[in-house]
Amino acid sequence: MKFFVDTADTAEIRELAGSGLLDGVTTNPSLIAKSGRKMADVIAEICAVVPGPVSAEVTATDSAGMLKEGRYLAQIAGNVVVKLPLTQEGLKACKVLTDEGTQTNVTLCFSAAQAIVAAKAGATYVSPFVGRLDDIGQDGMELIADIVQIYANFPAFQTEVLVASIRSPMHVVNAAKLGADVCTLPPAVLRQLFNHPLTDKGLDAFLSDWKKTGQSIL
Ligand code: E4P
Repeated sequence: MKFFVDTADTAEIRELAGSGLLDGVTTNPSLIAKSGRKMADVIAEICAVVPGPVSAEVTATDSAGMLKEGRYLAQIAGNVVVKLPLTQEGLKACKVLTDEGTQTNVTLCFSAAQAIVAAKAGATYVSPFVGRLDDIGQDGMELIADIVQIYANFPAFQTEVLVASIRSPMHVVNAAKLGADVCTLPPAVLRQLFNHPLTDKGLDAFLSDWKKTGQSIL
């Protein structure tokens, strides 16, 4: 399973890239707005730090506008993935960009039917939003299970399932159990993956016992 980080905070990205666990980055217009910076500058900086796929999202709503923006974003760096909304216009643009050899991420996916049309449009990634479905009382993970099962039925579908809107480590574990290809995690959730209270407790005990011996390994 690949790990992407879902942020436009370049300081966070630099730090997490140092962990060696980061396979890519996703951003969206809200995250770029939060950074207070120009989208092209943020994306260029991220692409220089992370060699893996970096999603940059269009903001036009018509396919012609999306194509213009998508082509502009794609020339920023070779690892830019153009992110497009899961609308009819978005999928029209997705098909053209895919045919041009640009990587695409179809975002704001909330149903299995939407995931099927994203795959038919040749999306490199489809992003189902599990947390936002949970928020409205639906089961986000059930959607992941459906998409993974459907894509497995059609080997011609090359689209990877990129689990988005992740809120907790349990989302990551459940996505991994289902065989999803990628999780994009907020930095705080990525850090949570390392933690367990019994690890801290156990380490404290080992170190305190070791100290009593007066030994040092080197
Ligand atoms: C994914 O690409 C989105 O940027 C993101 O996961 C949305 O998450 P949110 O629902 O926490 O805003």
